[in-house]
Amino acid sequence: MAPPRPADALAQAQAAAAAATSIEQLCAAIQAFDGCALKRTARQTVTHDGVPGAPVLLVGEAPGREEDEAGKPFIGRSGQLLDRMLGSIGLNRASNICITNAVYWRPPGNRPPSRDELAICAPFVARFVELSQPRLVLFAGGSAAQSLLGTSTGILKLRGQKLDWQGPDGRRVPAFALLHPAYLLRNPAAKALAWADLLRIQDELSALGLATDGQSSPA
Ligand code: URA
Repeated sequence: MAPPRPADALAQAQAAAAAATSIEQLCAAIQAFDGCALKRTARQTVTHDGVPGAPVLLVGEAPGREEDEAGKPFIGRSGQLLDRMLGSIGLNRASNICITNAVYWRPPGNRPPSRDELAICAPFVARFVELSQPRLVLFAGGSAAQSLLGTSTGILKLRGQKLDWQGPDGRRVPAFALLHPAYLLRNPAAKALAWADLLRIQDELSALGLATDGQSSPA
């Protein structure tokens, strides 16, 4: 069966996301959704990992090959770097962070998700944030930040400052955009910027009363 036109798929995503009243229901709705063409080439739907409803929610870009095989976000090389970055400020998937993506299916060949693909998944991602009620939102990479903040500003301008995610119900949550770990693997010189951003996020965790022990630099 042909996939629905983008406008129809978006309307379907909006209705399905709005109807979900728990993260579990939302994930079931994402699994059942056939409006994103990426689903036809992906092996699995990758919704999240970590603790659903944790105080910190991180949104990445899209599953890659390893994530598509395992059904979990950020488990390949960039995921391992991400875990070290988060660990350095006391965040880990076992206790205080939930990790999701801006699209739920692997784009073929690990290309970046298209604007339509991001837009079609956006209602689910926004609802994921809303139902998770995080105290702090982190974006890994420009696509996730741009899609959720509705901006075209590049990641190099968005990083390093406190941002504000606003839900459909008007609730505002502090947010930070981080350079994507895959970018850091390709551009190790940029790790100094990422480390400065992590220290800024650690300050915010303290201000929110969410600080736990971090370790040393994740390099
Ligand atoms: N990159 C992402 O943005 N998300 C993943 O899940 C894996 C790699």
